Amino acid sequence: MIPRSESVALMEAVTPTIERLIAEHRERREHWYFHEFIPWEEGRNYVDEPWDKSQATLRPEVRTALLLNLLTEDNLPYYYGQLAKTYGETPAMEAWSGLWTAEEGQHAIAMRAYLLVSRNVDPRVLEDDRMTVVERGWDNDVEDPLDLFVYTATQELATRLSHFNAGKQADDEVAYTLMKRIAQDENHHYLFYRGVVTEMLNHMPSEVLCSMAKVNAGFKMPGTTMPGWTRRSLQVAQTGIYNHRVHAENILKPLILHWKLDQLTGLTPEAEQARDYMMALPGEYLAMAESFEARIAARAKKRKPVGV
Ligand SMILES: [Fe+2]
Ligand SMILES: [Fe+2]
Repeated sequence: MIPRSESVALMEAVTPTIERLIAEHRERREHWYFHEFIPWEEGRNYVDEPWDKSQATLRPEVRTALLLNLLTEDNLPYYYGQLAKTYGETPAMEAWSGLWTAEEGQHAIAMRAYLLVSRNVDPRVLEDDRMTVVERGWDNDVEDPLDLFVYTATQELATRLSHFNAGKQADDEVAYTLMKRIAQDENHHYLFYRGVVTEMLNHMPSEVLCSMAKVNAGFKMPGTTMPGWTRRSLQVAQTGIYNHRVHAENILKPLILHWKLDQLTGLTPEAEQARDYMMALPGEYLAMAESFEARIAARAKKRKPVGV
């Protein structure tokens, strides 16, 4: 772990790269309008025709995934607060945080509109959960500028996968198209944060590796404060939308490969240890995934009717 002053100095050293990545993001991004994705013609008045679960068209586990993803997006004020607290005095990051927040804002608006119009969520449960989640707030205990770049690169990639996989598993054209569009935004955010970390590795590889080990040791996705988190996230894990296997195969492995962690040279002994930790981490996640899958399979076998 490096003192905050060094972390701030590192961020200043990579500011030209941050500015270049923001410019690339502005070039790459496509402005889009959520209202063009929603089948408004399906909308009905909830007072005249209250919600009933028989109206839902998506599988329950996909609906849970979409609900968790939406509630995660709903906590945007806390994410912005964290960015402002950590990067507030850096003009380039202030500019990025504003743009990022504006883009993120549309995600919750769009998902809420889709779920309400299509009646794939109980609107009262959604609103009660939103109140609870936002009132509880969110804090991932990551305050150091370097740590927050490392954390967000990982989290944006995880969010992209979670949105995309939820849309894919919905087996519904509208949900698929909308979630794919949102996932595209998350991918662009991921490219930004990953790019900053790549440049930081060029400047201070040992310090960045130590940060990676620290952040990944306590990594948790935003969402753990939601009502019924354990039950709901287990339901989502079983679908393969987001779980330990996805985290190992589609998040940790590509990041380790992209950052060429195995090829970094001139590391401090502490950073060598951090690298060993990072290189072993996908294996640890896969071991957890295998034991989870075995438990699910055993449970399914027990439930199988006799004679089948
Ligand atoms: Fe988002
Ligand atoms: Fe994002």
